Amino acid sequence: MDSKTPQRRRPSSVIQNGTVIREKKPKRSEVLAKKKAVEQSIKSARAEKDHLASFPEFRHFVNNGLSMCLKSGRGDTLSSPVKHYVQSLLKLNMEGPYGSEWLDEEKVKRREMVAPEAHYIFVHEDANSVGDETRMMLNAEEASTSCVEDSGPLVGFVHYRFVLEEDVPVLYVYELQIEPRVQGKGLGKFLMQLIELIAQKNCMGAVMLTVQKANLLALNFYLSKLRYIISTISPSKMGIEKSYEILCKTFNDEAKTILEVQLLSARTIRLILSDSLSLISQNTLIDSHLDHSGLRQYINFSFSDDGKQRLLIYGPLTYTDQFLRMHYHTRMEFLPDSAVEFC
Ligand SMILES: CC(C)(COP(=O)(O)OP(=O)(O)OC[C@H]1O[C@@H](n2cnc3c(N)ncnc32)[C@H](O)[C@@H]1OP(=O)(O)O)[C@@H](O)C(=O)NCCC(=O)NCCS
Repeated sequence: MDSKTPQRRRPSSVIQNGTVIREKKPKRSEVLAKKKAVEQSIKSARAEKDHLASFPEFRHFVNNGLSMCLKSGRGDTLSSPVKHYVQSLLKLNMEGPYGSEWLDEEKVKRREMVAPEAHYIFVHEDANSVGDETRMMLNAEEASTSCVEDSGPLVGFVHYRFVLEEDVPVLYVYELQIEPRVQGKGLGKFLMQLIELIAQKNCMGAVMLTVQKANLLALNFYLSKLRYIISTISPSKMGIEKSYEILCKTFNDEAKTILEVQLLSARTIRLILSDSLSLISQNTLIDSHLDHSGLRQYINFSFSDDGKQRLLIYGPLTYTDQFLRMHYHTRMEFLPDSAVEFC
């Protein structure tokens, strides 16, 4: 539908136990106010210079023989040695999982790492805890890329950003990289706990990240250990073959509905839409109309009460996947899954 086309406005309705329930639609002013609030949370989160300041207990990590201190950073203020360190660690850890895609990916990552919206948590070994043995282990290249300023050398970092995904404000983890010699000692889990706290403190609806499918250890780390799930916006959930998955952990119902719940793939919905026009005439329908902010697009769908409630969908096929997903989920809350049939 053309964005300038005027929209019909009718109250939506659903049947529950044979009773038509009219659904109160948010007013356009409410929708706009919410959009503004979301944009404001992202703006404030981006403006914050040191997200660690709210979590002083996370400034130090002492566990499993490690003694580390954490510091905040920004992409546009990285010193040359730190940039060099970030690039070297990315290559060391990620060249394998990316395989033949690495050369292109490396260029992308070099651009991303210095962006002003790139936030960092850097992990340094505590200066006092760096013994002679560790110093000896640093070869010439590592020594030049290690950031020994007032703390000990760097051992890892998280690069994260505050972005909008499917209209949900999220903290997106661009990178979580830990040197092999300190992996498996709880640091990754500790950093992700901190990231989740930062996300919630800044009113984000979720933490999201992308993982290469070939990176089985990382997938296991997020899915099994940290209880992330593959998001509905991940290519595999849309029937698209890609080398990566998009994972998420949500913090509120709206984010969950949009990023986690998958009732139907967009592809299935397309099939239903093309087939269902004929079904409309065969059923007693209660027409339900939904529009999206009154601005762009709408989808018509209907509920039929023929002994077992059924949801039928019809309408022109001009809607984005995102819109379909969003509104299906919103509407599906009214019906038990077993009561819904899709042609
Ligand atoms: C993936 C990564 C961030 C995990 O961080 P970490 O500090 O090594 O992980 P932790 O020690 O916090 O481990 C947390 C849990 O995952 C498990 N785990 C972590 N790494 C593991 C590994 N290599 N093999 C098996 N289990 C592992 C741990 O057993 C632990 O489980 P537990 O809490 O039941 O003991 C880190 O290994 C890393 O930087 N890898 C290379 C870069 C990378 O792949 N980053 C992710 C890209 S999206």
